[in-house]
Amino acid sequence: MYLNSRFLERSITVREFSELGSVIKSWKPHERLPSCSVRQLFTRFLDITTPPTPNLLQHFASIATDEDDQQKLNLLATDSAAYEDWRHWRFPHLLEVLEEFPSVTPHAPLLISQLSILQPRFYSISSSPALHPNEIHLTVAVVVYRTEDGEGPMHYGVCSNYLQNISVDEEVYVFVRSAPNFHLPSDPIKPVILVGPGTGIAPFRSFWQQRYYQLKQRQQLGKMWLFFGCRTKDMDLYKDEKAEMLKDGVLDRVFLALSREPDIPKTYVQNLALKEALEIYKFLVLEKGHFYVCGDCTMAEHVYQTLKAIIQKYGGMSDNQVESYMSSMTSSTQRSDCIQTNTLARS
Ligand SMILES: Cc1cc2nc3c(=O)[nH]c(=O)nc-3n(C[C@H](O)[C@H](O)[C@H](O)COP(=O)(O)OP(=O)(O)OC[C@H]3O[C@@H](n4cnc5c(N)ncnc54)[C@H](O)[C@@H]3O)c2cc1C
Ligand SMILES: NC(=O)c1ccc[n+]([C@@H]2O[C@H](COP(=O)([O-])OP(=O)(O)OC[C@H]3O[C@@H](n4cnc5c(N)ncnc54)[C@H](OP(=O)(O)O)[C@@H]3O)[C@@H](O)[C@H]2O)c1
Repeated sequence: MYLNSRFLERSITVREFSELGSVIKSWKPHERLPSCSVRQLFTRFLDITTPPTPNLLQHFASIATDEDDQQKLNLLATDSAAYEDWRHWRFPHLLEVLEEFPSVTPHAPLLISQLSILQPRFYSISSSPALHPNEIHLTVAVVVYRTEDGEGPMHYGVCSNYLQNISVDEEVYVFVRSAPNFHLPSDPIKPVILVGPGTGIAPFRSFWQQRYYQLKQRQQLGKMWLFFGCRTKDMDLYKDEKAEMLKDGVLDRVFLALSREPDIPKTYVQNLALKEALEIYKFLVLEKGHFYVCGDCTMAEHVYQTLKAIIQKYGGMSDNQVESYMSSMTSSTQRSDCIQTNTLARS
């Protein structure tokens, strides 16, 4: 059945006319939502997986018919510590909340009007438009986890699972947001060092593809090093493509840090970078190369600190000198974004 998502506004209009004795069906656009089926509303436009806000819980408390449900909901809606504990432990989506408080049966149009709009998810473009015109490749980790310290129900990330399950030719809603501070140096001779563990490798695939395209155009290219990290050998993303790029001379060296491979000591990208400290110093400081990090914020901070230690040691700098050198490298006014980071806030 198709129901217009402007149901609330429509029902108001109908009632107004009813009082005059004649019912006129009238449909008006809603400022928040497009015209679509209820199924589409809940699958594509409304956020039904983020735990409900205290405001919504307060509304649920007001319509709960069971006294226990009412009391618990009132507590969660008014006591922020109780709410945070409950939210953190259960991270419940809407259905789980309705299951936890079965006497709450919200009126669908009111529920629709209370839910937040589903927020966009960002993905780094993982292909070069020069090499793959009219295509955009993504590298997506499919998010699946259990709540309650791994003992609770399975939860599925909205967008990554949606992308995994869509069929070929299905229409997706996308927009492109450019990242003006994260790009290859305009001079292709400059050496570049790329550090991207896990899905942090995504934008760097577009970098090496772009360099591959430039190589085919007979352009002269600087050195490109890649530091990639993953848990085990079988998660070595783009293994074959990286081997091709090494063979063709697009990538000069590729480092693999394995953090959970049996019989291998836990290794992170920054541990491998430290082993190449002198070369990294030469690339960045003497040859004015560029350094890129992509991935979660904690990793990026650890890599930054490692780089700082390398530059301080080989540059013979004091603490103050290295601080100001690092900020000059990241400042767009001096060495034009020589350290570029693209970090993802992840829980
Ligand atoms: C600039 C930028 C670029 C990005 N590029 C990429 C990319 O190239 N590839 C990529 O895969 N991702 C990328 N991301 C992350 C991406 O945008 C999404 O956040 C990610 O795919 C999850 O979205 P989702 O809708 O599948 O999950 P959601 O439905 O948004 O669920 C994720 C939420 O679930 C919860 N959660 C997840 N795991 C656990 C756990 N183990 N325990 C408890 N709670 C948990 C957290 O609250 C988390 O915020 C990027 C993010 C940014 C900001
Ligand atoms: N269920 C699974 O099997 C599985 C597998 C991969 C990813 N995932 C999930 O998928 C999502 C994204 O995964 P992803 O591939 O982008 O990343 P990821 O697999 O979580 O991490 C990539 C690599 O970075 C390492 N790392 C963690 N902290 C670091 C730090 N401070 N400095 C340097 N390296 C660090 C990880 O090691 P450690 O994690 O060993 O510390 C791992 O080797 C995450 O939500 C992740 O939990 C799940």
